[in-house]
Amino acid sequence: MLSFGLTTFVISYYSAQPMIEAVIFDLDGVIVSTDEFHYQAWKKLADEEGIFFDRHINERLRGVSRLESLDIIMEKAPKKYTEEEKKNLAERKNRYYRELLEKLTPGDILPGVLEKIKELKKDGVRLGIGSSSKNTPVILEKIGLADFFDAVSDGNQIKRSKPDPEVFLLAASKMNIPPEKCLVVEDADAGIEAAINAGMKCMAVGAASSNKKAHIRAGSLQEISVHQMLGL
Ligand code: BG6
Ligand code: MG
Repeated sequence: MLSFGLTTFVISYYSAQPMIEAVIFDLDGVIVSTDEFHYQAWKKLADEEGIFFDRHINERLRGVSRLESLDIIMEKAPKKYTEEEKKNLAERKNRYYRELLEKLTPGDILPGVLEKIKELKKDGVRLGIGSSSKNTPVILEKIGLADFFDAVSDGNQIKRSKPDPEVFLLAASKMNIPPEKCLVVEDADAGIEAAINAGMKCMAVGAASSNKKAHIRAGSLQEISVHQMLGL
């Protein structure tokens, strides 16, 4: 009788434990609207080079590194570029992008983000960033969130970009949380793939909100409750 009571207690105690102990956010297009600046910078470069580039092609650049993005843009290039020229083009795009980042403020944080991250933190959930961008530190500084997250994993620290799971696994290990207890929030199909490859739960928002591979989907973080996020 006593052992039955104890077993029941142990089972109900553990089933009441939240599955999700950490939430790892992508940055561009999830926390802040810098995805639009990436588009504008690539568009300027492509127009100057006479390469066809539009918002449809731009969708394929979400979540992938700067050089891989350039390779996708090059598919429409009317001429071949040397490796040296490609390196210069990527640097030029980054200069245009950094110029646009100059005007970034906390006002560019996307709807629902601040409320959600503050509530999650209050609930004791660990919070991380998992971004392919090498500009992550400057962006977090500009939007006033440089010291907010428990772990930042970004394009400066990884060898392989999304859909490889490296960036999310690094964030999880920095927080000391096993992958299966992490939820990734992503706006990129490549990022959702990366989260699944990492063995993590995944929430799709914004541009990826119709991705059926995600465990949960929403137009924005505004549309979902912390309870729904953590109940996965
Ligand atoms: C990702 C963006 O967050 O960062 C991609 O979704 C971008 O579009 C990538 O190419 C790399 O960014 P950066 O800032 O290092 O050029
Ligand atoms: Mg993104």
